[in-house]
Amino acid sequence: MSKDCKAPIGVFDSGVGGLTVAREIMRNLPGEDIVYFGDTARVPYGSKSKATVLRYSRQIVRFLKTQQVKAIVIACNTASAYALEDIRKEIEIPIIGVIQPGAKVACETTANGRIGVIGTKATISSGIYTSFMRRQKPDVQVVGKPCPLFVPLVEEGWIKDPITVEVAKRYLEELLQYDIDTLILGCTHYPLLRSTIREIVGEKVTLVNPAYETAIELRELLEREGLSNPAKGKEHPNHCFYVSDAAEDFRNFANSILPYDIEMTQQINIEEY
Ligand code: DGL
Repeated sequence: MSKDCKAPIGVFDSGVGGLTVAREIMRNLPGEDIVYFGDTARVPYGSKSKATVLRYSRQIVRFLKTQQVKAIVIACNTASAYALEDIRKEIEIPIIGVIQPGAKVACETTANGRIGVIGTKATISSGIYTSFMRRQKPDVQVVGKPCPLFVPLVEEGWIKDPITVEVAKRYLEELLQYDIDTLILGCTHYPLLRSTIREIVGEKVTLVNPAYETAIELRELLEREGLSNPAKGKEHPNHCFYVSDAAEDFRNFANSILPYDIEMTQQINIEEY
């Protein structure tokens, strides 16, 4: 067993959305510790340029490396779309994003070959979901729809608010005209709106949350690289949470969605990295 096996996994997002991925890693890889970073001072990423998202992502990767992580998960579609390819060439530890796993499962799920993708403006305009899916299933038809108001609504905690339902109707009813049978939740914040989205799209559309598939891909990657932590699960896992602003709000939010209460969230100055 290499000594790296016991090192934590670095997970990051622009804010709370990546917690949906952290939650799946906790459920499916219970022996692993996580160091999570939420860039709460600079959220949202989805309306920023590639150069900016890449700069932010590089800073976060540098910070995570100071925490001796053995692998990194970019738990953000926007950063996966804009930064994964470049950063993968720059670092020596394994790094994965959320887009490829989500694209793969959507192709496996669709029966009529019509897939909807919702995400930030950046993710949708990058066309990255479409190109991954076309590689796997060349005749697939993909309809993308940016839903920029979802991220601030989730960050605000307005998960079940009537305003959120109204906004979701505006975004999603248009997509339904394309007779999609599968809808990718292509932003890690969106699974938190799952029940609202489900009500609007109905039972005939399968919702794909790339978070679960990402956790499974991470497990396979760690096994392949000989990096899995042999611990079978821990009573007191040693997860650490860092943010760039508003640590208390983040902690309260995290405690409402994670399988156990986190005691401490620490604010750091990410611009120093
Ligand atoms: N949760 C992120 C994503 O998956 C980013 C949302 C944002 O910061 O705009 O794209």
